Amino acid sequence: MDFSPAVNSALDTVDTWRRQGCYPLFPVVAEARDTTARIRTADGDEQPVTVFASADYLALSRLDQVRHAAIEAVERFGTGAYGTQAVGGFTTLHEQLEATVADYFGKPAALLFPTGMQANVGALATLARPGDTVLTDHLNHGSITLGIRLSGAHMAPFRHNDAQHLHELLRRSTAPGRRIVVVDGLFSADGDLAALGEIADVAEAHDAVLVVDEAHSAGPLGPRGRGAAEQLGVLDRVDVITGTFSKAFASTGGFVCAGARVVDALRHTAVAYLLSLGLPPAAIGASLAAFQVLEKEGPRRRERLARTARSLRERLRTAGVDIAGSAAHVVVVPVGSVDRTARVTRRLREQGLLVGPLFPPAVPIGGARLRFGVTAAHTEEDLERAALLVSRALAEEPV
Ligand SMILES: Cc1ncc(COP(=O)(O)O)c(C=O)c1O
Repeated sequence: MDFSPAVNSALDTVDTWRRQGCYPLFPVVAEARDTTARIRTADGDEQPVTVFASADYLALSRLDQVRHAAIEAVERFGTGAYGTQAVGGFTTLHEQLEATVADYFGKPAALLFPTGMQANVGALATLARPGDTVLTDHLNHGSITLGIRLSGAHMAPFRHNDAQHLHELLRRSTAPGRRIVVVDGLFSADGDLAALGEIADVAEAHDAVLVVDEAHSAGPLGPRGRGAAEQLGVLDRVDVITGTFSKAFASTGGFVCAGARVVDALRHTAVAYLLSLGLPPAAIGASLAAFQVLEKEGPRRRERLARTARSLRERLRTAGVDIAGSAAHVVVVPVGSVDRTARVTRRLREQGLLVGPLFPPAVPIGGARLRFGVTAAHTEEDLERAALLVSRALAEEPV
């Protein structure tokens, strides 16, 4: 079969990795605990690894309270979602989680999507119309870009975290429609926070709607765990929050949190919502319990995560490893070429460290990198070993 040049190029890369024995993707996980796992080796054995490829940032997913809530939800409602939410798949659990999310972020309403990706696609494809202009940080997550494309609105990417560039684009834009500014709260492939203070000022000055994806930041960041917008003091100036339960909320699924009319519009028209089954009961049970745990233990867990994340950043820097703009619990190590990144990833895995590599198109060409998800459960010993192994692997794998 014939593919597009982009697909052909990706397949060429995969073939090369396989030939060279350094295929770095899809490790088969046979068993997983908090920060350790067993993965299958090339010769079919199993090998223990310390996991830095997880987004269970606040280490909630193994707690008894969370696991038992998932099981209890299954006992009450079964394993699957019965049908689409509009026609029978909307349970009291869905209702409760919607209310919990809206209350958590202090917004009037919320609705749940099967994934965070669908939340972004659904939100942007519905909020923006042809004739509108959507200003998007050019390093935003791909699901945001997809939603904007589907909306038919004009997409205007601005330079990463550059509020001045955003202002220029808004000043020059003469399109008659609405303006929507959208950013990731914490950039998942770069590890830095959106400059939300300045961005909110610019959005407000131009009467633009502000949308923030708090996928990696809700839970860990902000004095009360509401995310990057809370951390930077602009939560009440954000019109629409999108996010996921698949990171700090110990489960899976996405959400959009906004004014009642926006949520009603999504509920009744967003294709990514209406045409896909809702979240299964176990996932909702787990998320609800995660919110309950955070009410009591949030401050302690956030403090611990901030400490482990700071420690890894400092240890890597001290070991001479570049961590670019990493500022929180997503720690990024630029490596450069696709091949070198694959080789470093495989070497680390063989030495017992599971780290996520990022390749184009998720990152710019020439910008392949390693991505560490630090959690509140990592020990100083884990962090020390990680820094040592990474600095060694980079030295041993030539550019
Ligand atoms: C910034 C950002 N937004 C949205 C998503 C999608 O979330 P989900 O995994 O729930 O689809 C991700 C994914 O991992 C992400 O990094």
